[in-house]
Amino acid sequence: MTEIYGHRGAAAYAPENTIPSFKLAIGLHADAVEFDVQMTSDHQLVVIHDETLDRTTDGSGPVKSHTLAQLKALDACAGKTDFRQARIPTLDEVLELLVPTKLRLNVELKNSEVEYPGLEEKAVEAVRRHGLERRVVFSTFNHYSLRLLEDMGVGPLGCLYQDILFRPWRYVAALGVEAVHPPAVAVFGKRYVRKCHEAGLYVRPWVVNGKAELRRLMRWGVDAVFTDAPDVAMAVRDDLAAEDA
Ligand code: G3P
Ligand code: CA
Repeated sequence: MTEIYGHRGAAAYAPENTIPSFKLAIGLHADAVEFDVQMTSDHQLVVIHDETLDRTTDGSGPVKSHTLAQLKALDACAGKTDFRQARIPTLDEVLELLVPTKLRLNVELKNSEVEYPGLEEKAVEAVRRHGLERRVVFSTFNHYSLRLLEDMGVGPLGCLYQDILFRPWRYVAALGVEAVHPPAVAVFGKRYVRKCHEAGLYVRPWVVNGKAELRRLMRWGVDAVFTDAPDVAMAVRDDLAAEDA
């Protein structure tokens, strides 16, 4: 059965990477949630996708140039004006919300455009402090960071990539991680999924919101999808199960 990861929570319905978005994903019974982690100038971990504040908040400039207190003063409703109370959450706040649930978590470290020394250690420490290590997969586009996590004994790990790579299963398997997290467009057919599985990798494409694409990828046997609308993906999964019954 394809697992459904709420992307940035349930970003189709609530401001991405905020507590309301994660609460919605929990309420929709997603199997897991995905979110993005960056670091403040006072070395606090916060959950926000972009390296800058401009798109999703009423602030501007790099996340890394602001203190946590400065970030907490911002409106993070990202244009969804029904959610004006939404704030940039800390990693701890998000983990705390998820502890009592059964959801799995994909903690994506946003360290491929900005250097955040110590990000891996701090994120792993927070996950362990909340007793969540068995429910978390760490991922990043920074493959040196994946190796660092591996050296720290952290896993499972997901290798994110962006482009249309040639035989990515070979590269990703050589990295020693457990899963490939490709852009959906890079999953060119059933053969891609089979090759990854033969290489011992789980396949979790992002970001899949359309019903036809969800259906196609699920039929090809991907292990999970990242989606902004977990309810839509769950309905597609239910339809396929009914067809197969
Ligand atoms: O982790 C899957 C996906 O979230 C990666 O892309 O840009 O949405 O962080 P992005
Ligand atoms: Ca992400």
